[in-house]
Amino acid sequence: MQTGLADVLKISPVIPVLVIESVEDAVPLAQALSDGGLKVLEVTLRTEAALASIKAMRDACPDLIIGAGTILTAEHYRLAVEAGSQFIVSPGCCEQLLAAAAQYDVPFLPGASTLSEMMALYNVGYQVLKFFPAELNGGAPFLKTVSAVMPQLTFCPTGGISTANAGDYLSLPNVACIGGSWMASAKSISAKDWSTISQQSEEAAALLA
Ligand code: 3PG
Repeated sequence: MQTGLADVLKISPVIPVLVIESVEDAVPLAQALSDGGLKVLEVTLRTEAALASIKAMRDACPDLIIGAGTILTAEHYRLAVEAGSQFIVSPGCCEQLLAAAAQYDVPFLPGASTLSEMMALYNVGYQVLKFFPAELNGGAPFLKTVSAVMPQLTFCPTGGISTANAGDYLSLPNVACIGGSWMASAKSISAKDWSTISQQSEEAAALLA
């Protein structure tokens, strides 16, 4: 269910959330992110190239941890696991995803944005959650309040985070790491701007220092 997930989230302060349109970009992108110091990547299933990109990154970059994001259905879950994903992320959660997660050893990071959603997940054994979309749901001040009433939970907030507000989240006791696309936007990936992505990854990787 979540075995090993906390260890994955400890590896890096920032997880790039990636939208890859062309599979040929997958490995150069992974190398650019890795050169900058980011070793845990999330490839979103928002494009047709996503599953092949996960496979290509796993084959070419064995030192990286490759997860799948935007998992909305049990079928997505199965396909992502079969592609070699090492963790699975969803923007929210539902019964179908919980049932799928129970079938595989690959750890699951479900999303929640309200106290009731967080409590529902906690009650079925989930203590590490994605908080999405973070900025639209109260951002770091909201998570700080959550830590007072549910200190058992740890979060990976994503959505609207950049270098400008990353520190607000990373300074909270209940934040393991943050996710975001600012260091590798879909536009910069399509433009194959590997040097900028690498440089922005380096800045992101330094956030916890
Ligand atoms: C996600 O899926 O986590 C978000 O799309 C990332 O949000 P951002 O693009 O605002 O960083």
